[in-house]
Amino acid sequence: MVSIQDSSPSFFENAQNIPVDAIFQVQKDFLADSDPKKVNLGPGAYRDENGKPWILPSVQMATTLVANCGHEYLPIAGSQVLREEAVKLVFNGTKLYSEGRIASCQALSGTGALYLAGSVLRKVDPTPKAVYITNPTWSNHDLLFSSLGFDVKYLPYYKDKTFDFEGYMSGLVTAPAGSIIILHSCAHNPTGCDPSKDEWKKIASVIQERHLFPIFDSAYLGFNSGSVNEDAWAIKYFVDELGLEASICLSFAKSMGLYGERTGLVTFVTKSPSQVQTMNSILENGQRATVSTPPRYGAEIAAAVLSTPEILEQWGKDLITMSSRIRSMREKLYEELVRLETPGDWSHIIKQTGMFGFTGISPAQINHLRAKHHIYMADTSRISIAGLNDSNFEYVAAAINDAARNIY
Ligand code: LMR
Repeated sequence: MVSIQDSSPSFFENAQNIPVDAIFQVQKDFLADSDPKKVNLGPGAYRDENGKPWILPSVQMATTLVANCGHEYLPIAGSQVLREEAVKLVFNGTKLYSEGRIASCQALSGTGALYLAGSVLRKVDPTPKAVYITNPTWSNHDLLFSSLGFDVKYLPYYKDKTFDFEGYMSGLVTAPAGSIIILHSCAHNPTGCDPSKDEWKKIASVIQERHLFPIFDSAYLGFNSGSVNEDAWAIKYFVDELGLEASICLSFAKSMGLYGERTGLVTFVTKSPSQVQTMNSILENGQRATVSTPPRYGAEIAAAVLSTPEILEQWGKDLITMSSRIRSMREKLYEELVRLETPGDWSHIIKQTGMFGFTGISPAQINHLRAKHHIYMADTSRISIAGLNDSNFEYVAAAINDAARNIY
């Protein structure tokens, strides 16, 4: 029995319970399910053709190289090699790269990079600002930017199973000057619908005209198409072709399979090289106040991958392995749904790109898939295509077919 000696009111009297994070709850529910047929299409984590986590061959090679890296602190801004190599990876060949107009700081994967970017922007201009995110988007966007005190607003993004370009533009043109716009560089999470190059150009021109600040959430560079250069096309168009300032938030969780290592990088592209040192100092200050110094092991691995030519070459092959397996699973799921004559048009599954498929099935169908077939997915109807493999795609298609025919 607990004995309470202090009769003063609790400091936590007004504390309110916060619902658990939806996608991590899906993962927990999946793990608790003992059915052997269960399928996890929830969190975006790559699985190999046997449904197992995949340690990339390039990462295996790098791990041997860094086995004795020790446990000392990294500098506050993180591994110098990682910063230089990651910046080179994304910006090599651009004017801003040769002019040295890029501030950078290692960050705790994509979330940490976005958080640090937001906190730096608050510091450089504390006047209240709106952050525009897409509807729908990755659920953490709203949480992290509202935690930083920004007014989070939504832009329409998805209509008739595709990118709602008109809806998006009609919202974008109303954003007040100085607002921050969160862009998914590629493989939009959760819809898998990216703007075309022509649409990107129109988005960029509104951002330029209205003096809006773009933050690129770049969690999937290289993972989407198999080529970092191809996946970074929109970033380069904004910062190199148009010369805009921007923040690019990188994560190596998906592209190197370093999920638990929290390895990422935040960058700011500045107008002039003389601003880089100031922006680096603000990044360092923000880092010190939050994580102090970033984790070492993942940074050493990523730095070794990027800086060792033969490992870099292997990484290129690994990106192709992952992105092509995902593409082939999209096709197999789609073909099976068609073969079963599943009611509805499923062609969006093969038109989308990246790790996720936005199925568009109803909440009742999602519940049915989980309760009857032990298939787990996000409550937005997003499935992680990486959870499909040759042993389960027919089972999943049959279950979707059952839900589409019998549950409304
Ligand atoms: C996802 O969207 O499922 C992943 O990026 C995992 C996460 O952190 O939400």
